Amino acid sequence: MNVFDAMTQRRSHRGTFQKRAIEADDLDKLIEAARWAPSPFNVQPWELVLIQEPEGKAALADLTERAVVGQFKDPKFLDDNSRWMRVTEQEWQARGDGVLLSEHVTLPKPLQNAPEKFLEELLKNAKAFTLLGHLGAGKIPAREMATQVREAPLLMLVTMNCKRFPPGQGATRWMWLSMGMLIQNMLLAATALKIGVQFVSAPLESAADREQIRQLFNVPTSYEIVTLLRIGYVEAEGGDSVRLRSSGFVHTEKM
Ligand SMILES: Cc1cc2nc3c(=O)[nH]c(=O)nc-3n(C[C@H](O)[C@H](O)[C@H](O)COP(=O)(O)O)c2cc1C
Repeated sequence: MNVFDAMTQRRSHRGTFQKRAIEADDLDKLIEAARWAPSPFNVQPWELVLIQEPEGKAALADLTERAVVGQFKDPKFLDDNSRWMRVTEQEWQARGDGVLLSEHVTLPKPLQNAPEKFLEELLKNAKAFTLLGHLGAGKIPAREMATQVREAPLLMLVTMNCKRFPPGQGATRWMWLSMGMLIQNMLLAATALKIGVQFVSAPLESAADREQIRQLFNVPTSYEIVTLLRIGYVEAEGGDSVRLRSSGFVHTEKM
């Protein structure tokens, strides 16, 4: 696949995957793509943990479930989220940013047929969601997300070895940049192989949860846990995505 097609056809895969495991050859290709990512002074600070056995998947699924239930009760988290949630496809396309509410959350039954205006008002007032969270509204999406984590053919913990820091005051910043490049290399390779990838950020939001992951997967304290990826062969082509127009972020000579 042409690299430009891979860039534009790549999608965050939020659906279910085919049940089959990632083939060894394809996994090698993902790792090879990762291996060639650039890093400052070529320090290559990354280490990946591949999780294919049920025990590790179940532990991460449980953590995800608990984290999401907690997030639905956290007013700040909901408020920050609501800013980027788009209720309708038209609004999403017109604004060119944010995520579609329906792609991220299965709303509780009484809200599923609610008028769009009502949902927009709810989003403007995150406190209302906190109340719903305390009434258990977070349990449905939490369980769904946990199931997706548990049933993913492959989970990957992306970690950064902070002892491999490059010289200079910006060391940490440059290392994080290279972690993004490593991940993007894998995402593009995955797209070419018809493999879907989803970031699973919920279980990494809090320091306490990251600490638990560290202990569960023997990650030394000198490593940062950068992200968790859910990986599998896609059942269907990726859906829509939106972007700002280039005039919204490109400046000529000065900002
Ligand atoms: C650092 C990072 C964290 C993300 N976390 C999540 C996540 O927890 N769940 C999710 O479904 N998507 C997550 N995403 C995917 C974004 O929502 C997605 O890239 C964006 O909405 C654009 O959609 P597209 O990737 O399909 O083009 C994350 C992306 C990045 C780069």
